[in-house]
Amino acid sequence: MAKALMLSCLAVVLLVGFLEATPRTPNVQVYSRYPVEKGTENIVNCYVDNFHPPKINITIEKGGKPLDVKQSDLSFDKTWAFNRLVYAKVTPDGEDVACRVEHSTLAGPKVVKWGEYLPL
Ligand SMILES: *[C@@H]1O[C@H](CO)[C@@H](O)[C@H](O)[C@H]1NC(C)=O
Repeated sequence: MAKALMLSCLAVVLLVGFLEATPRTPNVQVYSRYPVEKGTENIVNCYVDNFHPPKINITIEKGGKPLDVKQSDLSFDKTWAFNRLVYAKVTPDGEDVACRVEHSTLAGPKVVKWGEYLPL
């Protein structure tokens, strides 16, 4: 009984913490898994963290067209900041590659170019 009460108190505390967490705007990092070589398949990661609420759209595009992406489970740290990794196979060929993020704290989509790729 005492244990059940303690557990429900804990649930309430967690729920309140969740609801009271302040909105946070996402931080976006774009980087490749392997050294960049033109014409060689690579994997581009878009790691987005420190955002709240958890609702977010993350896409990776090449030449303005969305690529097939895979994504990690949404996870969060103890301050209720969420993070997610999205990645796609990309063969660099001169077209721009960028990660596009849509979140309620942003006035418009945040587009971050894959920087390592630019010197090509
Ligand atoms: C995510 O995309 C959907 C469909 O395009 C859109 O309705 C929704 O508002 C977007 N979410 C955010 C947080 O921008």
